[in-house]
Amino acid sequence: MALAATPLYADHLATLQSRTATALERGGFDHLVIPSGTLHYQVFDDRDYPYAVNPQFKHWLPLDRNPGSWLVATPGARPRLIYLQPRDYWHVVPQAPEGYWVEHFDIVVIGKPEEAMAHLPKNAQRCAILGEAQSALGKYAAFRPNNPQPVLDYLEYHRAFKTPYEIEMLREATRRGVRAHRAAERAFRAGAGEFGIHLAYCQAAGQDANELPYSNIVALNEHGAVLHYTQLDRLPPKPVRSFLLDAGASHGGYACDITRTHARDTGGEFQALVDAVDAAQQRMCAQVRAGVDYRRLHLDAHLALAGILDESGIITVSPEEAVATGVSSAFFPHGIGHGLGLQVHEVAGFAASDHGGTIPKPEGHPYLRLTRVLEPGFVVTIEPGLYFIDMLLEDLKTAGRSGSVDWDRVDALRPYGGIRIEDNVVCTTGEPANLTREGFAAA
Ligand code: GLY
Ligand code: MN
Ligand code: MN
Repeated sequence: MALAATPLYADHLATLQSRTATALERGGFDHLVIPSGTLHYQVFDDRDYPYAVNPQFKHWLPLDRNPGSWLVATPGARPRLIYLQPRDYWHVVPQAPEGYWVEHFDIVVIGKPEEAMAHLPKNAQRCAILGEAQSALGKYAAFRPNNPQPVLDYLEYHRAFKTPYEIEMLREATRRGVRAHRAAERAFRAGAGEFGIHLAYCQAAGQDANELPYSNIVALNEHGAVLHYTQLDRLPPKPVRSFLLDAGASHGGYACDITRTHARDTGGEFQALVDAVDAAQQRMCAQVRAGVDYRRLHLDAHLALAGILDESGIITVSPEEAVATGVSSAFFPHGIGHGLGLQVHEVAGFAASDHGGTIPKPEGHPYLRLTRVLEPGFVVTIEPGLYFIDMLLEDLKTAGRSGSVDWDRVDALRPYGGIRIEDNVVCTTGEPANLTREGFAAA
C-alpha cells in the first residue's frame, strides 16, 4: 500500500506518542493502555452484535476487527501491541499481524484474552486505561478501564487535528464512497428500489452494512424527508421522482460521510432546487478556514438556505425574517455538519479546551454537533439541506407562522421529500481541501 512507502504513518505515531506523554502527565499516569474492545451479545441469545472497535485503539493502527487485543503506550518506549489470535475453528481468526504498521510496534501474539495480563504493565494503578467496562480481564476484572477525565479530555480534544496520514486515510475512504455513490446513482436511474440501490452501493464499495461507517440512508421520494431514513423499501415507488443518498465508506478505521440528491427529471423544478442548494453548499465549503467559528457557518447557512426558499417562492417573508422567526428551521432542522474521522460524528465537537469545558450551541439550534473554531487539520462535513417534513410544517402553523409559507409550493414539492448535499472538507492554513469534490472530479 502506498502509505507504507511514506513517512506519514511514522509521523502520525510520533504525534500520538507526544500527545500521550502530555495526556499521561495531566492525569498522573505512566502508561496509556487501550483495549480494542470485546464482542457484545444479544440478551438471552448467543448471537453477537457487530463488533465495533474502540476508536482510541484504531487511532494507533488500522485494525478494526480484532476484539481482545490491547495497546500499551509508554513515553520513551516503542508502543506495544498485544494481539489476540485465538485458537478457534468456528470463526475466521485474525491473520498474523502484517502491513505497513507492524514494524512500529513491539508485538506479542496471544491465544486467549486472559493471556494479555502477562504482557500489560505490572501496576494497573499507574495506567490510564481507556475503553468500555467489559474489556476488564479475567474473573478479577483486572485492567478495568478507568477512563481518567483529564487524559480523555486531552486526547479527544486533539483528535480534531488530523495528521497528514489521517487525511490520506480519509481521502481513501472518500474514493471508495464516491465510487459507490456513482454506482448507486446508476441503479437509481435504471429503476432500482431502495434495497436494490443499497446492494449496488455495497457491491461498489466492497463493504457490507456492518463495514460501512453508518447505516446507509437510501431514500426515494417522500422518504428524503426522514433525516435518518434507513428502512430500505424492497420495491420502488411509482412514480419515482427523487433520490437522496447519505452513505459513506470506511478505510483503515476512518470514515467518509457523503450525501447527494438526484432528481429523476433533470430538467424540472426539483432539480433546480437541488442545483441551488448545491451552489450554496459549495460557497459554504469555501468558508472552512482557520479561525472561522463553526457556529457562524451554521447560522450563515440558515440565511443562505432561506434565500433559496425565498427565490423559489416557498416562503413569503424575507430570508432574514424567516431565520429570525424560526421558519428556516422548519425546512433546515439539523446542524450544518460535524467533525469527521475515526467516527462519523467525531468526538469533542463542543470541547472548549484540552482541559475540558463546553462551548454552547447557539440558542435555538439544539442539533449542531460542532461549536469549535476551525483550525488547520480539522476535517468537517458541510451538509446543508432543505426538507418538506409534515411534522415541522404543522408546527409552523401551530406557531402562527402559516402566512410565512406558500403552501401550494410546499404541496408541489412535498412528494420529493428533501435535499441534502454533504461534502467532507479539510481546513488547512490556506484554501480548504474538499475531499468529496476531489473524489467526484477524479472518478
Ligand atoms: N450520515 C449522518 C450524517 O450525515 O451526519
Ligand atoms: Mn454528516
Ligand atoms: Mn451523512
